[in-house]
Amino acid sequence: MTKIPPGVGPKFPQVVVLVGATGDLARRKLLPGMFHLASAGFIPACRIIGVSLDDIDVEAFRTFTRAALDEYSQRKISDKDWKAFADSLDYVSLNAGPVALKAAVEKAEQIIHVEYNAECRRLHYLSVPPNAALSAIRMLGEADLVERARIVMEKPFGTDLASAKILNNKLHEVFSEDRIFRIDHFLGKEPAQNILAFRFANGLFEPIWNRNFIDHVQIDVPETLTLGKRTAFYEQTGAYRDMVVTHLFQILAFMAMEPPTSLEPDPISEEKNKVFRSMLPLEPAHVVRGQYTGYRAEAGVDPESDTETFIALKCSIDNWRWAGVPFFLRTGKCLAQGQRIISIAFREPPKSMFPAGSGVGAQGPDHLTFDLADASKMSLSFYGKRPGPGMRLDKLSLQFAMHDTGMADDVLEAYERLILDAMRGDHTLFNTAEGIERLWEVSIPLLEAPPPVRFYAPGSWGPNAIHQLIAPHAWRLPFERAWRDPNPVGS
Ligand code: BG6
Repeated sequence: MTKIPPGVGPKFPQVVVLVGATGDLARRKLLPGMFHLASAGFIPACRIIGVSLDDIDVEAFRTFTRAALDEYSQRKISDKDWKAFADSLDYVSLNAGPVALKAAVEKAEQIIHVEYNAECRRLHYLSVPPNAALSAIRMLGEADLVERARIVMEKPFGTDLASAKILNNKLHEVFSEDRIFRIDHFLGKEPAQNILAFRFANGLFEPIWNRNFIDHVQIDVPETLTLGKRTAFYEQTGAYRDMVVTHLFQILAFMAMEPPTSLEPDPISEEKNKVFRSMLPLEPAHVVRGQYTGYRAEAGVDPESDTETFIALKCSIDNWRWAGVPFFLRTGKCLAQGQRIISIAFREPPKSMFPAGSGVGAQGPDHLTFDLADASKMSLSFYGKRPGPGMRLDKLSLQFAMHDTGMADDVLEAYERLILDAMRGDHTLFNTAEGIERLWEVSIPLLEAPPPVRFYAPGSWGPNAIHQLIAPHAWRLPFERAWRDPNPVGS
């Protein structure tokens, strides 16, 4: 059972309007996440109004929610918790219009008022693709649901610079900036925040966190998943918009930013945005776009689709800390492994003192590796002497796994953490309009002249061109040496 430190929940009861309530994200993450937050006591007084295009009633929405929890909830669902959660659900079809939505919100607020004698806050969660976001915002305005409300906007935020600007302008016509939470769930991942703790709470690494000591950086997020029922969304989006301009660049900012003056929202956003401002526009020649063979035959995919299901690219941050240090990013669907790593390669020392055949440098440079899996793992690899006569070197490593600490159960799933933060009005882990617009700006050369997609075999690591992209370096994945098992059998 999650331990809840005092004061982490929102001050006021919440009414959540979940737009896109029967979509894939709601099913996999948002409904299970809200169930955990409610049943573990993080948000004791909360009611949820599902909204979507589906013409279903509240009972059907409860059935949908229960099926989602059965499939995706990581935790046991007791009858008591389910009953309480099911009672807190309501549903309004988009076709019923703003008046019906407003009535449902007022009814929820009335129930909370009677039960808790407290005033409510509203959280509108827009889990809809970019082309549906504007009409959802308009509806919330027409329904007069702006007062006491915050709005969470799912990524991708727009599809290019022009559409992101329009979306920001329209959003600002209805909600003020302090009410807007542009979510990127990678920033809610515990290990992503641990990058900040690791960098800024320790004297060990920060002094060498720069171009003088670091040779290159990889952010590598291969996925084994195919698109399943998401092809309609994905055809319009592709790997770059779905993953890079959102998650991978956000992780890059945490890795590359200067120390903020405090861990408050404004200083953190300021430093992240400086990284984005220093990013050089992407060069199409430094981008590999790929598509797995078989994608075009999937339901809902254009037989001549040019959508990339894979992307690898090199980008540069032209500032005093990082000039000359290449950042290699890669992500894609239907690849050999599902991993999420940041790998930092350090510069190599002169090796002339070691005898020929010693093995020094033979297994690449020293690496610091962050594994962004749900419970953090970290590894620092280095050369050490192999026991015995002579001087033969092996690559060794120091490894840390959160599992070893016994604290892994306290990890909140990324969406849970961010929903809770939005309810509390804490912007620290959310994106700003400026940051997002700048990322679309550096994307212009790529979006205007994307290189042709190259095919790759399902279960591979992407098209062959990825090796030229990174040469003379090499991709860390697949790892030559597996992570040590923190809990080996028989331990
Ligand atoms: C989502 C993307 O934002 O992130 C998906 O839309 C992707 O395509 C997912 O699979 C990966 O997130 P996670 O948390 O499973 O690594």
